Parts: sequence; structure tokens; C-alpha cells
Amino acid sequence: MSQDFEKLTVYGKSFSGLTADKEALLVEIGPQIKPHLGAVTDEFYQQLLNISEASTFLAGRVESLKKTHGLWMEGLFTGPFDKNFTAQMFKVGDVHVKVKLPVEFMAGAMTLINNRLFSLIVDTFGDDKQRCGQIIAAVNAVTGFSLLVMQQSYQASSLAEELEKFLKISGMSRTLFTNLALAYRDK
Ligand code: HEM
Repeated sequence: MSQDFEKLTVYGKSFSGLTADKEALLVEIGPQIKPHLGAVTDEFYQQLLNISEASTFLAGRVESLKKTHGLWMEGLFTGPFDKNFTAQMFKVGDVHVKVKLPVEFMAGAMTLINNRLFSLIVDTFGDDKQRCGQIIAAVNAVTGFSLLVMQQSYQASSLAEELEKFLKISGMSRTLFTNLALAYRDK
């Protein structure tokens, strides 16, 4: 299924409030935050391992997942948050669809990550209440944006799967389906 990542980027940013100012702030604080991300990742996987529904997906993979996860987190404080970033998050969503992760794992995992990141930010920037609030808003925006894109990926994949099933059951060719869909007018 083809995706317009430019459009999805604008859409995702409008919902998550990821503005240019917030993007610049994330990149600016990168050098202070990145040294702590290893600990955030370790704690994240410890929490996932304590959730029985999640731990079954992690067996034998934790160390390699920590690496890819760590790289993803660094990207949140590196940018750019452009259509390539969106395409990458869409692909990450797709990888999770392929390993059959339930969709709610995405929102749950992002909540765990935000909980941990917010407390790291308060520890690091808490002396300046106003800046601390701005940084929390920026992190919430970029994780919310990532989540929205991953969930779009789930939606696209399940629609594609449903169509695949329909074509198999009905014996209809993809070309015929496409032609019918193009010709169809809703009233
Ligand atoms: C905020 C949510 C999450 C993010 C941002 C994230 C990030 C990533 C990334 C960057 C990859 C590598 C994708 C690639 O190969 O291109 C990945 C793969 C994977 N993740 Fe996640 N992940 C999240 C949640 C979870 C959760 C909750 C689980 C399971 C409990 C999980 C299990 C996996 C598995 C099994 C793979 C595939 C590993 C493989 O076979 O290559 N992820 N994830």
C-alpha cells in the first residue's frame, strides 16, 4: 500500500502539536538527554518483561531490541522530523504488525516511555519550571507523533490484510477489484 508520507507528517504534527519550536528544543537538549537514554531503555524492557502478555514477544531478543530501541530514542533528540522520519516510524509500526503485536502495545509502551522520560526531564531541568514545562511538552509531542504514525501503519496493514483475504475468498483478481473500486460511485 502506498503512503503519502509528506501528508502523514503534516497530519501527525497537527494532532501531536509537534511545531518547529518544539523540534528545535528537542535537538537542543539532545546532548544533555542522550547520555541517560541507555538507562531509560533498560528500565523500559524490565517493565515489559514484567507484563506477561508482552514478555512472550521478547524471549531471546531483549539485547538486540535494546539496541534498535536505543537508536530510535536517540532519533527523538536528533531530528530532522521530516517525511523520512515519518516513513521510518511507519516501517517500525509495520515490523510490529508482522510480529503480530497487539495494537494497544504501542500506546501502552509509549506511555511507559513518556513516564520515564518526563521524570528524567524533571531531574535534569526541574530548576527552571518554565523551560521544564516546555521540554515536557516537546517530548510528549514527538512521542505522540511517533505513536500516531505507528498506529496508522497498523490500520493500513490490517486493511491490506482484509482485502487480501477478500480477494482469496471471492477469487476476484486485484485488477478487477481496482477497476471496480475506481468505477464505484457512492450514490
Ligand atoms: C513505543 C513503542 C515501541 C517502539 C518505538 C519500538 C521500536 C522498535 C524498533 C525501532 C524496532 C526495529 C524495527 C526494524 O527492524 O526496522 C522494533 C522491533 C521490534 N519490537 Fe518494538 N518498539 C516498541 C514497542 C514494542 C513492544 C511493546 C514490544 C513487545 C512487547 C516490541 C517488540 C518488538 C519486536 C518483537 C520487534 C522485532 C524484532 C525482530 O524480529 O527484528 N516493541 N521496535
